[in-house]
Amino acid sequence: MLQTWDELEDACLDCRRCGLCENRHHVVFGTGNPEAKVLFVGEGPGEHEDLEGEPFVGRAGKLLDKMLAAVDLDRHTNVYIANIVKCRPPKNRDPLPEEQEACISWLRNQFALMRPKILVCLGRIAAMKLIKAEFKITKEHGIFFEKPGVLMMATLHPAALLRNPAQKPAAFEDFLKLREKIDELHCDIAKGN
Ligand code: URA
Repeated sequence: MLQTWDELEDACLDCRRCGLCENRHHVVFGTGNPEAKVLFVGEGPGEHEDLEGEPFVGRAGKLLDKMLAAVDLDRHTNVYIANIVKCRPPKNRDPLPEEQEACISWLRNQFALMRPKILVCLGRIAAMKLIKAEFKITKEHGIFFEKPGVLMMATLHPAALLRNPAQKPAAFEDFLKLREKIDELHCDIAKGN
């Protein structure tokens, strides 16, 4: 495990642990405030993210930014956003189990340095990797799962909401629950817990 954020980012940007490194334009390490108490984790970079080196900058990212703003969150100040895999899978296919396994220690090292209070999985792939293998996104989104030192929740992936806008209100509910949980935890932090 690397001990500083800069060391970690430098090492990650040189990563060649799986085949996704062959065709990448950028490693998408993550964006936001590494001291934030809330960490969002998506699946993997798409075309725009690969070209720009930043997560969630395409259409799905614009929707994510709107949902964050609705609950007073913002990618530049009070959250951090990363992905399960840091290089773009070809044609936006799901990252393969071996690609996820090769990449996950970067995210785990980010998590260990950040020590977020809440981790929000964006979509099924992140939820199945981080919460439980049998996670059912349609049934279990919006539920907080207690893990050692952190609460984990999954919401619907913003790209899924673009394909199926009827699901937007359900996802918005998840963001409201997140806001409530953050407010609760702020009280705990103020009480010294
Ligand atoms: N979808 C993801 O899961 N991550 C991104 O960074 C962009 C789109």
